Amino acid sequence: MDKVEEVKQNALQEIEQANDVATLEAIKVKYFGKKGELTALLKMMGTLSAEEKPKFGAIVNSAKEEVSEVLNKKMDAFAKAEMDKKLQTEKIDVTLPGSKIIRGSKHPLTRVIEEIEDLFVSMGYDVVAGPELETDEYCFERLNLPKGHPARDMQDSFYITPEYLLRTQTSAVQARAMMANKEKTPLRIIVPGKTYRREDDATHSHQFNQVEGLVVDKNISFADLKGTLEIFMKHMLGEDTKLRFRPSYFPFTEPSYEVDVSCFKCGGKGCNLCKHTGWIELLGAGIVHPNVLSMNGYDPNEYSGFAFGTGLDRLAMFKYGITDIRLLYENDVRFLKQFDRKDD
Ligand code: PHE
Repeated sequence: MDKVEEVKQNALQEIEQANDVATLEAIKVKYFGKKGELTALLKMMGTLSAEEKPKFGAIVNSAKEEVSEVLNKKMDAFAKAEMDKKLQTEKIDVTLPGSKIIRGSKHPLTRVIEEIEDLFVSMGYDVVAGPELETDEYCFERLNLPKGHPARDMQDSFYITPEYLLRTQTSAVQARAMMANKEKTPLRIIVPGKTYRREDDATHSHQFNQVEGLVVDKNISFADLKGTLEIFMKHMLGEDTKLRFRPSYFPFTEPSYEVDVSCFKCGGKGCNLCKHTGWIELLGAGIVHPNVLSMNGYDPNEYSGFAFGTGLDRLAMFKYGITDIRLLYENDVRFLKQFDRKDD
């Protein structure tokens, strides 16, 4: 029993003198480990008589409890001190002002696209997208432009393989949308997106943007097309805008039209922007060709539709008075900054 008291006193003294967690861990092993001194005392019980055993056991256990309580308290105290120190040194002042990020501005094309999307969504259209790397099938064949058709010459194309090309027109998505919906009506979509042709000058870029519109339903007529384009153009260019439909040719529409808008700069009187004609050519449009309907899953005897397509770059250029299309693609911040508006 004296031995128990001695071991206990030693342990308490060592704990008292310990200055860090590592020392305390070592003390723990020294007394409580498998070969620890207090553990060894318990093992001694085997040598005692039956009546001595419980007494001795109780004494050893109470010694163990006392030592472990003191040890744990000191451990906790060290852990708390450590944490306090960490909190002190890693203090962050959340009230410090942050570093400023210069506000960007929306690209003029993005503005035009968003404006068009808002308008058409308000009229019940869906905004859909299609692949820019398109197949000959969807870009031409399903639009009534079989291989070898002379009208393919209207669009200088970037072919990747004989079957794949960078789409020359968002009209490709007309066929995709019809094929995906087959006889489901009404089909009302607009398709804003990038298109590619082999041309580059002040008014043509090898990559440009179009928005396509397509409506298929029962009893769709030219009146629907005309009304829709009037709403579209007045919304984009002003309420006084007038439209002029000229007969034209596209293989996927019949009849087809080139649509001009009255010059919004001179109001139709004639100026340098409209080349003194009073009109600016802005859209291609027409009534969906029966072949296109039947090729893409709609019975032309039951359904009809209209389609239109316009260059977003041209629209943005007119709207914002931009004289060179290349400015839209050069990412010059001095140019882009001019479209910074605080209202959005
Ligand atoms: N895809 C035609 C073009 O790029 C425009 C168009 C679209 C014409 C839809 C008619 C109908 O020139």
